[in-house]
Amino acid sequence: MKNLFRNTAWLYDVDKRDNLQADIPFYIDYAKMQKGEILELGCGTGRVSIALARQCFKVTGLDLSIQMLDIFRAKTENEPELKDKITIVHGDMSDFNLQKKFSMIIAPFRVFQALTEDDVIKQSLRCIREHLTYDGIFIINVFNPRPVMDEGWCYPETVQWERLDENTGNYVVKKHWGDKIDTQNQIIYPHYAYEVTDKNGIKSRHTEDLKLKYYYDNQLSQTLENAGFRIKEKFGWYDKSTIEDCKRELIFICTKI
Ligand SMILES: C[S@@+](CC[C@H](N)C(=O)[O-])C[C@H]1O[C@@H](n2cnc3c(N)ncnc32)[C@H](O)[C@@H]1O
Repeated sequence: MKNLFRNTAWLYDVDKRDNLQADIPFYIDYAKMQKGEILELGCGTGRVSIALARQCFKVTGLDLSIQMLDIFRAKTENEPELKDKITIVHGDMSDFNLQKKFSMIIAPFRVFQALTEDDVIKQSLRCIREHLTYDGIFIINVFNPRPVMDEGWCYPETVQWERLDENTGNYVVKKHWGDKIDTQNQIIYPHYAYEVTDKNGIKSRHTEDLKLKYYYDNQLSQTLENAGFRIKEKFGWYDKSTIEDCKRELIFICTKI
């Protein structure tokens, strides 16, 4: 199973790209409108769940990666006031039964793209629908692919960002590359590496191999509609830019039909 960040969970929060900043106020705004309990699918290290719990929302975070959840749990231990607001579940977003419903279910930072098989995608959407209250919303985000996705998508190892992590004193360089695309099934195979120099100058390299399904706007709409969702709003960025104005992301707000 790919995309579980087993080797690099401990470095995940060093990433401060704008995607990982801009989405938080967006989810908080929708949480304020919905008011009830929230389920975050693929919650990882709790980046979004913790921000929502700090605003006093009750959040359940579900993730399949023990390594990511260990980091999440450690973070909540530093903030004991969040303990009764957060429930952490080790589980698969394609097959879960939490025996309760949520007024908002979110899949931030392209989490849903980790599901690459049609039957698994359908099963996940079935589970999500069953866990939504009658007036609940499901917010899904995937990246907006370039107009032509072919072998030209492949790219050599490139620095994505580098920064000093003030928490550890580590200097971290994140590199990424892509060497394979399956255009028939719309799957890309990106890889990334964190090169870490610790405060004693000791260097290490930690890599991860991903497998991600990509969707065009109309395909994601069709997939969601076929699964019994109505798309209420569509955005291209977290400031609510339209997809025409900002082509980076696809962010859909859905309700049950
Ligand atoms: C890119 S990270 C996003 C984490 C978090 N949502 C955020 O925005 O920071 C993707 C997360 O999805 C999780 N994941 C991948 N496949 C999963 C699955 N089938 N079920 C649950 N979680 C999964 C990974 O373990 C990882 O924590």
